Order: sequence, then structure tokens, then C-alpha cells
Amino acid sequence: MASEGGGGFFITVEGMDGSGKTTHVGRLAEALSHDGHQVQVVRDPGTTALGERLRSLLLEPSADWRLEPLAEVALFLAGRVQLAAEVVAPALEAGKVVIADRFLDSSLVYQGARGVPWESILELHRICGVQVSPDLTLVLDLEAEVARSRRADRLTLDRLEASPTAYHEKVRRGYLEIARHFPDRVVVVPATRGADEVAQECLELARTRLGTRRNA
Ligand SMILES: Nc1ncnc2c1ncn2[C@@H]1O[C@H](COP(=O)(O)OP(=O)(O)O)[C@@H](O)[C@H]1O
Ligand SMILES: [Mg+2]
Repeated sequence: MASEGGGGFFITVEGMDGSGKTTHVGRLAEALSHDGHQVQVVRDPGTTALGERLRSLLLEPSADWRLEPLAEVALFLAGRVQLAAEVVAPALEAGKVVIADRFLDSSLVYQGARGVPWESILELHRICGVQVSPDLTLVLDLEAEVARSRRADRLTLDRLEASPTAYHEKVRRGYLEIARHFPDRVVVVPATRGADEVAQECLELARTRLGTRRNA
């Protein structure tokens, strides 16, 4: 895995829309930079030219393509292959801390919720050579209703955000299942609390794991 090659460290931040991912990716990046790390922030889908184009396609609010679940998997995967090869792997090789706003677990949860088995999604990633896997994943966990109220001030909801609350509850359960399934990598961070408390917990978790790694 690339994260073992150059001494970098790969953190992914996951959770439903409105859970605070973008907020806490930014705050964590700032705090770890302040600690002296070289930090690279990425978003998935996005960051690369291809990824940003796919992001617009995939999240476009008016899109009604009735995307087949596996077509959705393939589009997210294409962006992720490009992101991993073009940005994440080189940054890790260079010893940076990479912080991603969503990554592979989002596919497991969202396309998993549409009926695609995890094994299929993981196998496709293997086939496509997504070689980087996170050292630490922070799942920001909160009730779908709270997340909804935090999204309320957005001008337009994107295609996935606009789905009903029941769907978001399913997403929440999916993330908790991810945490149970990958206990060494994934930590659930209760995100109903104030932003400062959540940011502090994310930072402490990252510092601890980074420290453990360095001493290993
Ligand atoms: N712990 C928190 N408590 C209250 N509001 C928060 C907290 N974390 C984030 N927010 C606010 O909730 C909204 C959604 O956060 P955002 O980071 O955009 O979520 P996401 O990227 O997961 O969709 C933003 O207005 C943000 O300022
Ligand atoms: Mg966001």
C-alpha cells in the first residue's frame, strides 16, 4: 500500500451530508499543518480535472438518469482511480498527511444502500488498482434529522442530499456497520456536539495514530 511506502499518513473523513465533513477536514488540516505536517486535502469525488467533472455529473441536482447502481459505482470508481494515482499516492510517497473528504467507504455505504454487495465494490477497486487504503477513517455520526437541519441553509441540495430522511438513516446504519467491520481503521466520532468539541476529538485521534505510527 502506498501509505506504507513513503511514510505518509492517509486520513479519510466520512459521514452523511451535513455531518460536518468539509468543516472538520479543513480544521484538521489546519491543526496538523500547525503541528508541522505537510498536509494535502482532497475530496472524493473531485480534486483532479476528471474527478471534478464527474462530481458535477454525479451530484447535479436536476439529473434524472435513473443511474443503474453499478453505473454509479463505476463513475465514482473512475474518479477515485484517478485521484489515488494522480494525487494521493504521490503525496503519501512524499511523506505528507493526506486528508480526504470521503473515499472508498462512501461507495460501500451509498451504493451498498442501493443493493451492490461490498465484496463487488471492493473487488472492483482491487481490479482497478486503487492501491491506497486509509490509515485512519473518522466517521462523523449523527441523527439524519440533525444533519438535515444543518443542510437546511444550502441553496440547492444535490442529487444525493435531496433523498428522503429514511435513506439517510440507512446511510447512517451503513457507516456504523463499516465501523464494526473495520474496527482497527475506523473510529466513530459523535458529531451532534459543538464543532469545537468534534474538531478536538478528530485532532486527538489523528495525533495519537500519527504518533503510534512514528514510534512503530
Ligand atoms: N459540530 C457541529 N455543530 C454544529 N454545526 C456544525 C458542526 N459541524 C459542522 N457544522 C455546520 O453544519 C453545516 C454542514 O457542515 P459541512 O462541513 O458542510 O458538512 P458535510 O461536508 O458533511 O456535508 C455547516 O454549516 C457547518 O458549519
Ligand atoms: Mg461537504
